[in-house]
Amino acid sequence: MTSNVQLFNQVQRNNIFNNPDCFIEGWYWAIPSKQLKIGQVKAITLMGRDLAIFRGQDNNVVAVDAYCPHMGAHLAEGKVEGSGLRCFFHNWKFATDGTCVEVPCLGEALPVKINTWITIEKYGMVWVWTGKAKPSPLPFVPELENSECDSALAKRFTKNCHPNVVMVNAIDAHHFNTVHNFPVKIVFDKQEKQNAITFNNTTRGGEDSLFLKLIRPFYKDAVTYNMCYWYGSTGTVTVGPDFLHFHIMFTLRLLEGGKTEGQTILITKKRTGILGWVFNRIVLLLTNIVGNYFAKGDTKIFQTIKFDLKTPTKADNSIIQFIHHAEKQKALLWGTWEELY
Ligand code: FES
Ligand SMILES: [Fe+2]
Repeated sequence: MTSNVQLFNQVQRNNIFNNPDCFIEGWYWAIPSKQLKIGQVKAITLMGRDLAIFRGQDNNVVAVDAYCPHMGAHLAEGKVEGSGLRCFFHNWKFATDGTCVEVPCLGEALPVKINTWITIEKYGMVWVWTGKAKPSPLPFVPELENSECDSALAKRFTKNCHPNVVMVNAIDAHHFNTVHNFPVKIVFDKQEKQNAITFNNTTRGGEDSLFLKLIRPFYKDAVTYNMCYWYGSTGTVTVGPDFLHFHIMFTLRLLEGGKTEGQTILITKKRTGILGWVFNRIVLLLTNIVGNYFAKGDTKIFQTIKFDLKTPTKADNSIIQFIHHAEKQKALLWGTWEELY
């Protein structure tokens, strides 16, 4: 077993990017909202930490540390009562803020508390904030920052490498030509804000290709290809002609041993009325096709890669900027969620 101190030193040496022992403090998806009905409690393991997550009769979702402060029973074996949770083993009851409100055999409560974690529901998902302090924003598509969204959950997937490595694929400028046969030279303009870093394509290059000639009428400036990364592990892609942008969110979690579990979320601006609803179903369907196109092609690389950017070229610039951004974030230890620095 590696001790926490050893792990700490190891983490300091390896830093944050592509490090299987830590992750960036942030929002991570826990469970699709539909899979947690009123009165249900489920066991979840998120970034190595065991949680019980439940939906009270008031429809609020609460995430708590899994093990009962009495004797360690998993609280997901218990049952939801009102807006709180009762442990199966000796029936202690806990309120939404984690305080013990009933110990039946004593006829009164005890001054113990379970840790609770902040949750939010959006894009059809329950998200958990992994930090103890006030949360930063939930990942969003920059273009839709002030719009209401319509969304659909698409593919769930796993990859044999670290989420950070999967993420940088979308800004690996050179591989668009070599892997995806995309005849456009991509040059990114980077911007950093809070916990996010964005990369927007600025080039108009590749004008001699037939493909570019065909799509040119649909773009005023550069061909739209915008990425926004949150907490090093959720990325939103915006692509499409000027009159219709497609938005895809790839949101990843770090599994044991530096592997990835991800969820694809299709997002579009909310449109009103029945027609708006129908139009959005079609847009989301098309978004899924675009998303699959992006996800295809790199699969075998993620199976076997041992990421090590030993010989960077100019085309790897954005990847290096992403790594620097990740290194500036607040990191937590995988499993304990203890702060690193
Ligand atoms: S272990 Fe939960 S009430 Fe005893
Ligand atoms: Fe790719």
